[in-house]
Amino acid sequence: MSERRMVVAIDGPAASGKSSTAQWVADRLRFLHVDSGALYRAATALALRELGAADTWDEIRVLELASDVTLVPGTTSFEPRLRGASAEDEIRGADVTKCVSRVAQMPAVRRWVNEQVRRAAVGHSVVVDGRDIGTVVFPDADLKIFLVADPWERARRRLTQRLGRRPADTEIAEETERLVQRDAKDATQTVQARDAVLLDTTYLTQAEQVERIVALARAVERGGSRGPSPAGDA
Ligand code: C5P
Repeated sequence: MSERRMVVAIDGPAASGKSSTAQWVADRLRFLHVDSGALYRAATALALRELGAADTWDEIRVLELASDVTLVPGTTSFEPRLRGASAEDEIRGADVTKCVSRVAQMPAVRRWVNEQVRRAAVGHSVVVDGRDIGTVVFPDADLKIFLVADPWERARRRLTQRLGRRPADTEIAEETERLVQRDAKDATQTVQARDAVLLDTTYLTQAEQVERIVALARAVERGGSRGPSPAGDA
C-alpha cells in the first residue's frame, strides 16, 4: 500500500453542495472530510457569543477566540469543537451565516484556518471543501474540483434540505437573494484554480456528481490524468 496521502480539493460558491458532496466522496474513497467553512463558522459562533455587535469585531479578539476551536478527527470527518463541545446547530444557524463572511475577510483568521486544515491533512488522505482550497491552501492538491450551480437551483436545494419540504417560489427567491449577497462578499477568495475541473451541477443529481468526482479521484490514484489541462497550462 502506498504511503502517499491524497488531497482532493472541492471549491465553489455558497450552497453549491460542496460539503455534502465532499463528505460523500470521502466516504466512498475512505478518506476523511475536512470542511474549511466550518472553521470560519466556529470562529464566528464564538465571536457572536462573546463580542457583541458584528461591526465592532476586531481581528485580534476573533483570533484569540478561535484558539478555543479544535478540529477533532472522527471516523469519516473532522469536526470543529467549541471549547470541547460539538456545536453543529449553532455554527449552521442563520446568525452565523449572516456574519461569517466578515470573519472570513480577516487575514489572520484565514491563516489560522489554513493551518488547521493543513494540519488535519498530515497523515490522512482528505477531501477538503471551501473557497480557496485549490488555490491557496493546497495549490498542489492531487485533484481539484470547482462546483457551480445556478443560484436559483442552489437556493431550492438548500431550502428543501433545511425545511424538509418543497419550498414556495417566494421562499426560493428570498434565499437566492441571500446567496447572491454572500457570493458577492466571498468573491475575493472564491477562485477557480487554473487546473481545477469545473463541474456544473445544476442538472446533475448529487449521486451523479459524486460518481464523477470519485471516478476522477480513482484515475488520479491509479496515476492517470484527470483530463486535458486548461488552455495555457504548462
Ligand atoms: O462553506 P460554507 O458556506 O459553510 O462557508 C461559510 C463561510 O466561510 C463562507 O461564506 C466564506 O465566507 C467562508 N469561507 C472562506 N473560505 C473557505 C471556506 C469558507 O472564506 N475556504
